[in-house]
Amino acid sequence: MNELNLESDRVTIVIFGASGDLTRRKLIPALYSLMCEGQFPHEAHIIGVARSPLSSEEFRDRLYDGVQHYARFKPTSCDLWPRFSQRIVYLRGNYDDPDTYRRLAALLDETDKDANTPNNHLFYLAVPPTLYPVIVQQIGQSGLNHRARGWTRIIIEKPFGHDLDSARQLNAQVHRVFDEQQIYRIDHYLGKETVQNILAFRFANSIFEPLWNRNYIDHVQITMAESMGIEQRAGYYDKAGVLRDIFQNHMLQLLTFVAMEPPAVFNDKSLRDEKVKVLRATQLINTSDAVWGQYRGYRSERGVAPNSRTPTYAALKLYVNNWRWQGVSFYLRAGKRLAATVTEITMQFKRVPHLLFPENVDVLPNTLTLRIQPNEGICLRFEIKVPGAGMRVAPVDMGFSYRDQFDVQSLPEAYERLLLDAIQGDASLFARSDEIELAWTLISPLIHWWDSLDTPPLSIYEPGSWGPIEADALMARDGRAWIRGCSTNA
Ligand code: BG6
Repeated sequence: MNELNLESDRVTIVIFGASGDLTRRKLIPALYSLMCEGQFPHEAHIIGVARSPLSSEEFRDRLYDGVQHYARFKPTSCDLWPRFSQRIVYLRGNYDDPDTYRRLAALLDETDKDANTPNNHLFYLAVPPTLYPVIVQQIGQSGLNHRARGWTRIIIEKPFGHDLDSARQLNAQVHRVFDEQQIYRIDHYLGKETVQNILAFRFANSIFEPLWNRNYIDHVQITMAESMGIEQRAGYYDKAGVLRDIFQNHMLQLLTFVAMEPPAVFNDKSLRDEKVKVLRATQLINTSDAVWGQYRGYRSERGVAPNSRTPTYAALKLYVNNWRWQGVSFYLRAGKRLAATVTEITMQFKRVPHLLFPENVDVLPNTLTLRIQPNEGICLRFEIKVPGAGMRVAPVDMGFSYRDQFDVQSLPEAYERLLLDAIQGDASLFARSDEIELAWTLISPLIHWWDSLDTPPLSIYEPGSWGPIEADALMARDGRAWIRGCSTNA
């Protein structure tokens, strides 16, 4: 890791796709919040590159709006906007035109005035994935991929490829220009505090890890439900579908954090090595262990093909075939227009081996829920004696909530953490090339099987429901049911 001195080192962040939504809603708000927290490099500049005809002034105004709406720190309460905005310039240009990169190089020379201090460059690809290869190639041809003094890194947004072959091809294209250590493939789920907390919870406590295996855990459920639909993203979503949009990246990343072995040390190599081992041990998913759904009304969304068969929901069962997890089912489900917006991971423990108290026909198994969002926290459900005569037991919840415990209005945004990590050279929370390809190895066969069918098994579900009944049947087949976290977190 190449530690950056926030006070003296110079860094220029070049955002391709600067006039787009990601820049306005996420990237600039995150960088502004970093400045308000005193974590933005003092000598930093931002160059926005895009095709829209905008002056730097107009560009800054547009960004101000985004910061005001979406940043954790608003310019009205954190008075640093004048200082922040004077570091931003806009460069209009076509991404495939060498002249854009010549002008970019000239701008970089200007911000890199002082030849004696390292001039560090961070490129950010906030453009549609079809443009990744051409931008990377042009950066390479213009010689901007390496500096004599200082580092050069590139952040690449998801989706990284649309199947295994295209991901391999993209990795090869990027590797022609950048070394793997320069490449930061972003998955914003890894920037979430609560996702990182999975590691703290597991590896900074000694009481949970001994239970974290096939001896005690009956099965694991990972749910990522969203009540919203596809918003204005039909162009992208109708081609992608839920497996590419959510499972290949966010869901499998959550799986690796839950299932991995403790790394020997906490650095990017060890962490990513352990995650890769989980993906390698994950058995190819049987198509009979998968359910696909589409919400009613999806085909009438603007921009969606009237006969679209794109799934907006999926539920999968998979197995991690290693010493720790042999035989433990992992159930993953995600979808749009569901009953609630919630991401959580629940471990259900094994039932008690013998029912001791005759008044109870059943005693519910314990569950431990890691609540990723919202109401971020952790909740343990266990049985207690109901007060009064006899020995009747009932479940109760014991919860920890970030908001109650810490005096924070809102947790840092994922992009704040990830941008800072990339600036500081810590790639732990970014996906490595082998990780991306292994994740596709698991998801691609399902997508290709689905695409090969004339009538794929797509169930229509009601908006506002918990998805197709076939997903309940997937659980019921194994004598199980989907769990809705803990009541204290509801
Ligand atoms: C994105 C997906 O990666 O994650 C979106 O493309 C999804 O479809 C979003 O809505 C969810 O992210 P978050 O942080 O709101 O849970």
